Amino acid sequence: MFEIDIDIIKKYDKPGPRYTSYPTAPHFHEGFKHEKYLDEIIRTNSNANAPDLSLYFHIPFCDTLCYFCGCNMIISRNRDRISEYVNYVKNEIDMLRTYLNADRKVSQIHWGGGTPTHLNPEEIDDLKSFINQNFDVTKDAEEGCEIDPRGLTREHLEALRKNGFNRISMGVQDFNEKVQKAVNRIQPEDMTRQVVSWVRELEFKSINLDLIYGLPFQTVDEFAKSVDTIIDISPDRIAVFNYAHVPWMKKHMSLIKTEDLPTPEEKLQILKMTIEKLTGAGYVFIGMDHFAKPTDEMAVALQEKKLYRNFQGYSTNAGTDLYGMGITSIGQIGNIFAQNYKKEKEYFNALEDGIFPVERGYQLTQDDIIRREVIMKIMCDFELDFNKFGALYNINFNEYFKFGLSNFSEMIDDGLVELTNDYIKITEMGRLLIRNIAMNFDGYIERKEDTARYSRTV
Ligand SMILES: C[S@@+](CC[C@H](N)C(=O)[O-])C[C@H]1O[C@@H](n2cnc3c(N)ncnc32)[C@H](O)[C@@H]1O
Ligand code: SF4
Repeated sequence: MFEIDIDIIKKYDKPGPRYTSYPTAPHFHEGFKHEKYLDEIIRTNSNANAPDLSLYFHIPFCDTLCYFCGCNMIISRNRDRISEYVNYVKNEIDMLRTYLNADRKVSQIHWGGGTPTHLNPEEIDDLKSFINQNFDVTKDAEEGCEIDPRGLTREHLEALRKNGFNRISMGVQDFNEKVQKAVNRIQPEDMTRQVVSWVRELEFKSINLDLIYGLPFQTVDEFAKSVDTIIDISPDRIAVFNYAHVPWMKKHMSLIKTEDLPTPEEKLQILKMTIEKLTGAGYVFIGMDHFAKPTDEMAVALQEKKLYRNFQGYSTNAGTDLYGMGITSIGQIGNIFAQNYKKEKEYFNALEDGIFPVERGYQLTQDDIIRREVIMKIMCDFELDFNKFGALYNINFNEYFKFGLSNFSEMIDDGLVELTNDYIKITEMGRLLIRNIAMNFDGYIERKEDTARYSRTV
């Protein structure tokens, strides 16, 4: 079992990026639009050794509002609006297809939201078969979909499975009724169990359940019951997210009363209890907020140093170019990031004009590329050989990262990292604070060019 030292966590609990990208999304700018995106698509597709493709589709719609929600979602039951959106996503697919090298294979697909299963089974069938016809999806591709059990039928899951999806990620958050009521998300335990049993009957390869700590009325004792229930349900993976209460950014969060939230101290006790219970039950702590059974490919990938990190968090599929489709989606191809328009209208207009609906993006410099790779290695392998890395990028690692490396003495004393002239190794406790460790390699923080407001690191 992994024992947590709360005093150490408290010391490092400060705002910091989640590093689903480096540079982080606040650095993307509107000087980067369709033309630059297209240039990089053409450049990367002319390369005979281009990597496999990863495709992300954003389906923003949800039936009802969860007051804690921090996702890019739209609450709507207007079926015409939903089917109009799906048609535009198909237009985006058509457009992309004309520029892609036809030999490139797709080894990863993810539908995120919002709630992709707010599409009805026919719409799921229609959109996913369209994707399958337009791309060369490999037989063993990782194909995941986020689902919400409320309003979900077995037919939704059948439509996903029959069209190739093999992984499911489902929101639970907390089983406690008082908490569910306070966040406007009533999801009885039986409903969650029913959906999990359908997922198993339909032989999806892996199921992930999401929990959130820091929600109103949560206490250590009450949340412990939810964690026990999750352990009893026994999903392959569990994500335990930290609720960031930012009503100034997401207005609807003010529907949650600040005084109902657990205190920072109680929150840390909840986190400690959760990690100790999950690891005590045999789950492997992957890093940040992810846990997996030792037999799950995410835990195997951690062992084999094949973990990877992108906008969906940790994944087992390294080295692909990621194309994002749908509003707000982010792509990462070659040396650029590109994010689509956030508003449906602007997204639709761009597609009607025959241009990629890119609102903002970023072209990486050589320094960004080096630092992105270091941060990725640190967050996924939890160790780095400085000489090997330096040789790869033709740099003297210790010289290049002199400033960042000089900031580690406290973390060494606190047992978060082991650091020599030749390597850095992150301990299990360090994995919990991996964002803080990665920040020492962030050039924007070093140059004081990062003014964004990030969530707290724990
Ligand atoms: C897009 S949702 C998953 C699918 C579906 N919409 C649902 O809620 O069941 C992704 C996950 O993000 C997490 N999440 C949403 N808002 C959050 C917030 N403010 N802080 C932490 N986690 C959050 C929840 O755990 C949620 O399950
Ligand atoms: S948590 Fe999921 S279901 Fe709830 S509003 Fe957000 S995206 Fe929709």
